[in-house]
Amino acid sequence: MELSAGHARELAKQAARKEALRSECLEALEGVERIVFEAGCGHGHWLTAYAEAHPEQCCVGIDLIAHRIRKGQEKCAKRNLPNLHFFKAELGEFLEILPPAVRFEMTILLFPDPWPKARHHRRRMVQTAFLDVLAERTNSGGRFCFRSDDRPYYDWTVEHLEAHPDWEIESDGAWPYEMETYFQSLMDSFDSVVARRR
Ligand SMILES: C[S@@+](CC[C@H](N)C(=O)[O-])C[C@H]1O[C@@H](n2cnc3c(N)ncnc32)[C@H](O)[C@@H]1O
Repeated sequence: MELSAGHARELAKQAARKEALRSECLEALEGVERIVFEAGCGHGHWLTAYAEAHPEQCCVGIDLIAHRIRKGQEKCAKRNLPNLHFFKAELGEFLEILPPAVRFEMTILLFPDPWPKARHHRRRMVQTAFLDVLAERTNSGGRFCFRSDDRPYYDWTVEHLEAHPDWEIESDGAWPYEMETYFQSLMDSFDSVVARRR
């Protein structure tokens, strides 16, 4: 089937963007084997504080929005944290281009967009396919940590984790590190779930 000129241009742009991201990651993460990964990190408040408190771990945050990532990078430079990296990237594209040798010791989703309408649920970050890819990247014992103010999204995540053969919800589910994010500061209440890779 022939592609329209517009579609072909879009594919070329996407390929160029992924290639640029791949080079950026290869350079920044040279020799790195394990990361703490935050998807949708916003301004990077949580990950910056976590990286400062855990200098032995390599921390990587991504977000779609460039100025949020710039804020994270500024925090990183100000505090001089060589173990912290922020990339402007879309989650699916990032997971595609990340060098296969990089493993996730912990993945964090803090207040991801809830997409409350049923017809938008397919846009939620938590999907079976996403949990599959995370499981491939995570060794046994690695963790997936999710927090949301949106109860239906929390329930959706618990259901997806319970149905997934590679993840087991931790009954005591201690949150790995408390530090209020921008979105958390706006919320009256929230729920958290922590799962372990079988
Ligand atoms: C509600 S905000 C939460 C930000 C931050 N975690 C916090 O708690 O303050 C959700 C963030 O996810 C980002 N985001 C949404 N979809 C994304 C995707 N597919 N890939 C990367 N980032 C995404 C948005 O740009 C936004 O910054």
